[in-house]
Amino acid sequence: MTIDAEILRSLRTNETGSVSGADLSQRLNISRAAIWARIEELRALGYDIEASPHRGYTLRASPDLLHADDLLSRLDESQIIGRDIRVFQNTTSTNDIVEKLARDGVAEGAVVFAESQSLGRGRLGREWVSPAGKGLWFSILLRPKLAPQAVTKLTIASAIALARAVRNTTHLNPEIKWPNDLLLAGKKISGVLTELTAELDHVKHVILGIGINVNMTESDFPKTLRSTASSLRIQSGRLIDRPEFAAEVLRQLNHDYKRVTEGCFFDVAEEWENISCTLNRDVQIQVGDRTIKGRAENLDQDGALLVRTQHGHLERIIGGDVTMRKNEP
Ligand code: BTN
Repeated sequence: MTIDAEILRSLRTNETGSVSGADLSQRLNISRAAIWARIEELRALGYDIEASPHRGYTLRASPDLLHADDLLSRLDESQIIGRDIRVFQNTTSTNDIVEKLARDGVAEGAVVFAESQSLGRGRLGREWVSPAGKGLWFSILLRPKLAPQAVTKLTIASAIALARAVRNTTHLNPEIKWPNDLLLAGKKISGVLTELTAELDHVKHVILGIGINVNMTESDFPKTLRSTASSLRIQSGRLIDRPEFAAEVLRQLNHDYKRVTEGCFFDVAEEWENISCTLNRDVQIQVGDRTIKGRAENLDQDGALLVRTQHGHLERIIGGDVTMRKNEP
């Protein structure tokens, strides 16, 4: 962990809320003058750090920006997801950056955030609107020991992790539309683009690209999206602390990634089923040129959706665009 991350962690976790320069200097094994220089740098970034001769340093407020050291300082050091965090002010798509990291052999768990994306992409070739400072736009590099057909498990797991993070932060209860769209009041607040590189029988790496509309107002969405998309701010009526929420999201994603890789997908699927708005509904699914109509009955052991078609067949769906229809008796 970097010195700045250590300083921020000490300031946040000290019971008294303050840490003396001498303590920090001893803990980090650098001079008090060096600590002071780092504190000045953090202040220049917008961290409100008070210095008192009696109490030492106190963190009064943090800025609403994504800063890798700050995010690292909020996470447990044993976490896989988020052990390497990089933040870009602007990029084309965070999935592209992570693809390059993957090819360079970077270890799994690396996370790339961007404050804004110029070419953010969604599922099925759609555009993903990613205005600066309003959301969480990030991608995670994973190297799970899974067969390619089991990667849907990660998609399902990411949805419940995101739902839990939203619940813990806002007390709102999102629903999940298969496979991993998060909805509040029927409008989409988050989506995941899973990109996979695999050999025939094993996964080389997976990129989970996650977009969460956090502090967007109506006017931040193009008119064409306003009837179907929303944000946590619109739904909760308050501004969300993005760095704190980002850390919570990474904690929850780490929890569910472990559940999948440790063979506990059954529990993940059960949690997904409890908050899904797709199961037991009549659905229409567009898979390429094919339209499948039927009732969404269940998830299979790999996270694929099992749909009983109008003709009574059970279809296993691993991707596509789901529209919910009025249930027929
Ligand atoms: C969807 O269509 O629901 C998936 C949206 C995924 C958007 C995220 S934002 C971060 C990452 N980079 C991208 O270009 N897309 C994903």
